[in-house]
Amino acid sequence: PAHLSIRNGHLVTGKHDLVDLAERYGTPLYVINEDHIVSNFERFQSALASYYPGVQILYAAKANGNLAVLRALARKGAGADVFSSGELTLALRAGMKPERLLFNGTSKSTDDLRLAVESGVRVSIDSIDELNQLSKIASEAKKTVPIAFRVNPALEVPTHPKIATGLATTKFGIPAGEIIAAYAAARDAPYVIPVGMHCHIGSQILDVEPFARAAAVMADLAGEVTALGVTLEFIDLGGGLGVPYHRETDVAPTPEEYAAAVMPVFVEGMMKHGISPQLWVEPGRWLLAESTVLLTRVNSVKRAFKTFANVDAGFNLLLRPAMYDSWHEVIMANKADQPGEEKVTVAGPICETGDIIAEDRLLPEPVAGDLIAILDTGAYGYAMASQYNGRPRSPEVMVKGDHAELVRRGETIDDLCATMLIPSWQQE
Ligand code: LLP
Repeated sequence: PAHLSIRNGHLVTGKHDLVDLAERYGTPLYVINEDHIVSNFERFQSALASYYPGVQILYAAKANGNLAVLRALARKGAGADVFSSGELTLALRAGMKPERLLFNGTSKSTDDLRLAVESGVRVSIDSIDELNQLSKIASEAKKTVPIAFRVNPALEVPTHPKIATGLATTKFGIPAGEIIAAYAAARDAPYVIPVGMHCHIGSQILDVEPFARAAAVMADLAGEVTALGVTLEFIDLGGGLGVPYHRETDVAPTPEEYAAAVMPVFVEGMMKHGISPQLWVEPGRWLLAESTVLLTRVNSVKRAFKTFANVDAGFNLLLRPAMYDSWHEVIMANKADQPGEEKVTVAGPICETGDIIAEDRLLPEPVAGDLIAILDTGAYGYAMASQYNGRPRSPEVMVKGDHAELVRRGETIDDLCATMLIPSWQQE
């Protein structure tokens, strides 16, 4: 990533020596580069906007829901894809406008739907059952609520099966064949107004074709829905553009290539049906992944079957390798100018065999005290962290230009106990 460089043998983000940051804030430590996020946002937006006016980016808040990340993007005019009442509230507190938030999700509770109505966000509806529940809640509140339906476009998508969401067999969305009936029901339901159409086909997709196909499906459906008398204010094509985690083998499309594949299809569809809704997109990973490194200290080195560098961050802080077998590049941050000498397996501190961050990577010979930077951890890194094995979650630091500040304090061992209660019968 462009924000990383080497100075005096140390890995540096922007102007900040990562070895110094690790000393100042301790490890493990997430370091987020705001300048990188903002420039990604601007690049993504202008790639699409050069084909069509009225592009609105909704950052997928699940990638990293830190208020400082949301606020950096809010200040640039971003909205957000929010997937829970928690994300919705974070996005509003970060200063995002309710009309730029889409409340997504297959399984919203009554409380979620109430909050959606109260806060004035757009709601992406995932079933007719949910439509009826929302209509009832909105009627009771006497407040109209603008909605979209999430379409299941039934597309095969080349990515990890756990994150391919556009397949017909997944839990997501309403089948394309039932969408017209859904809009007719929404048009007739009290206190809901259909104003949008939504889809999201999956994540970490390294091929632009599926996005173009989804755009074609959505454009056709938009035509049919318009013929029903529904005025679409937005069409949301979701997120999903992947990043080249494995720089030697992954070939990742740029936002410009994504736009070149998707936008002509979208624009042609809009012209054909004589409509001009806003185009919404929901990138998460592409905006965030490369902005962040996770710094982890080598506690000990063991040369057994392999050379293990036992570090202080495991799948408690970065779940992706254990959950999706995903690859993250690792760099010895305090020896960043030294050549790789030894195949090293970077192993976390968790009590499971699967707690391997990186396997057999050529690194400078490791010793206790070395600092390893795990790259591309800005999306679905901290966001999926847990306290497993009684490990407090790490702090997050954000850098921007000359600034470096804590944007989330590290949890303490007292924090582990803070939400727990001893039942009455054990108190004596
Ligand atoms: N919109 C919706 C409705 C989504 O469900 C998602 C991601 C996005 C947008 C953003 O997709 P992106 O642009 O980030 O690909 N934990 C997994 C990724 C799960 C993504 C789930 N939904 C991982 O670490 O790879």
